[in-house]
Formats: sequence, structure tokens, C-alpha cells
Amino acid sequence: MRGIERGRRPLPAHPDDSERTIGSRHGFAPRSHYSSAAQPVSETSLLSVWTTAQRSSRAQRSGRYVAESMAHPGKMLPAVARHAIAAYSRPGEVVLDPMCGIGTTLVEAAHLGRQAVGIEYEPRWADLARRNLGLAAEQGASGAGEVATGDARAAGRLLDASYRGRVALVLTSPPYGAVTHGHVRPTPQGRVVKQDHRYSTDRANLAHRPVRALLEGFTQILVGCRAFLTADAAVVVTVRPFRRNGELVDFPSLVTAAARDAGLVLAERNVALLAGVRGDRLVARASFFALHNLRSPHRSAGVRHVRAHEDVLVLVPR
Ligand SMILES: C[S@@+](CC[C@H](N)C(=O)[O-])C[C@H]1O[C@@H](n2cnc3c(N)ncnc32)[C@H](O)[C@@H]1O
Repeated sequence: MRGIERGRRPLPAHPDDSERTIGSRHGFAPRSHYSSAAQPVSETSLLSVWTTAQRSSRAQRSGRYVAESMAHPGKMLPAVARHAIAAYSRPGEVVLDPMCGIGTTLVEAAHLGRQAVGIEYEPRWADLARRNLGLAAEQGASGAGEVATGDARAAGRLLDASYRGRVALVLTSPPYGAVTHGHVRPTPQGRVVKQDHRYSTDRANLAHRPVRALLEGFTQILVGCRAFLTADAAVVVTVRPFRRNGELVDFPSLVTAAARDAGLVLAERNVALLAGVRGDRLVARASFFALHNLRSPHRSAGVRHVRAHEDVLVLVPR
């Protein structure tokens, strides 16, 4: 065993959430259970489930993020970030998100007393991430953060050298497509129009590249991040499968393979719920587009369910 001993983490404190881990084999302190590189774990043996959507995405952000943040099409649920940061890093440690969007990882890290650093390709989202960090500081967050604007494939150049060997946790989520992203607005004609469903119009944004190019870019980003990791760091990636023209793309497996190419091995595969848990029932929080795709025969390819979770891949350096 690698023997990563981090000790049991307290549940992250947040007023209205009742986050807990269902069916986890190791409660809230999984780091000491990492397998060695020589013995990759069975992907099913380490499943655990995080109740991270007890409140809607909007409710989780209300008052904690500037309102313009809602326009970002692919945000991580704050409760997912909070849970991952509490489980895989300690107060005072450095948490990095190389594709930080409007800064969910950074804001939650700052509130949990971590030092946060992010990279975001789009100036619009990077500016919002800075504003959100400013709001966290105003609200008394005990940690702080900073954001570099640029292509994270050049992380080695963008990040200050002082971070080398100090990042205890990389928490990130790669972008993919726009099929289920965005908001809808009704028109006077009784139709609906899509808005806020794209990261930008820049074709070089990895979100807009074909899946293969996106994965190659993600590998490069992870390779760049590796120089900044501590010896016992974790790289946590949240990701979902998606459908393209009705066909299921097993994105979590593709991302796991991309991470392997960057010298990272899968230590755990967890589940972050996107649906609320009420007793023995799930409260679905499917987006308009998820429901629309379900009803469109060419998109759903006969499938009759919406996703209620996303995968949380926990990777460690080989
Ligand atoms: C899924 S979103 C991350 C959202 C973030 N977790 C949040 O909650 O705000 C992925 C982000 O990666 C950014 N991105 C795409 N290509 C990038 C690159 N080469 N370097 C850095 N960021 C990139 C996109 O603009 C997008 O904001």
C-alpha cells in the first residue's frame, strides 16, 4: 500500500446542506485506502455515493457566487467541490483547478481554509472566478485564491514556480459539448430559445474540440499539473457520460485512460448525486435539455432515464 494517511475529515460545514456519504466503504476519509500503482483497484470495489444535490444548484450558489456566474454552462455543484476538498486535502494546503470556470473549486477551497489557484482559458469566466473569490473573502473565507487566464496546457508557464511540489489536490472537470448545457427562455411565439449553452465562440477552447483532441489536451494539462503535486497528492476529476447523436460516450473511462497517459492511476471511483435524497426516494433535478433529449427519439436512442449522478474519479500519481 502507498500508505497515504490523512486522517478522518470532518463533514464540511455549510448551513443548509446535509451532505453525507452513502454506502462508502471508508466513510469520509478515503485517502488512506489508496491502492499502490502496482495494484490498480477494481472499479466497482470502491464505489461510494455523495449526497451533493440536497439543494438545487441555484440554491447552493445563492449569495455565495456573483449572479453572473449562472451564465457558465458547465459548473460543478458547490457541494461536490466542498465534499472533495474536505475529503482529499487539509486546511492550509494548496488546491488547484486548471480548468476553473467561474471558480467553484477555488471558492469552496477558500471557504474551507485552503489556498486555491486556478487557470481558465476564457477571460470572461476567469474574471468571474476572481470576483467570486473576492466575494468569498468579503464573507470571511479563511483561505484565499488566485486565477491565471490562459491555456492550462501551459500550466508550467502560467503558474508561479512557488507552487511547485505544493499542490495537495487537483480538483477539476473537463468540458464537453453543449447538448445538455444552458438555459431556456420562452419567446412570445410560444417557442423556447437556448441561451448560455456555450463556453465561448472560440474554437480553440477544448470544449469545442472533437472528443479525441479534448482528451489529448486534458492529458497535456494533467502532465503539466504533475510538476506541482505533493508526493501524496490526489487528482479528482468529475465527469459524466454523454450522448452524441444518440450514441453513449463513456467519457469517464476515456478520461481515466487520458489520465493514465499522464501517469495517474485510478484509486477510487465515486458517485456524486445530482438528485436530492429524501428518505428512500430521489428528487430528480434534470435540466430542460436532459429531459428534451430524452424525449427526442434520435437523441435518446430508446433510453428512458436521466442521469442522477456524475462520476468522481480519484487518481494518484503512479
Ligand atoms: C466544465 S468547465 C469547469 C467549470 C468549473 N468547475 C466551475 O464550476 O465553474 C471547464 C472549463 O474549462 C475551460 N477550458 C477549456 N479549455 C481550456 C484550456 N485549454 N485551459 C484552461 N481552461 C480551459 C472552459 O472554458 C470551461 O470554463
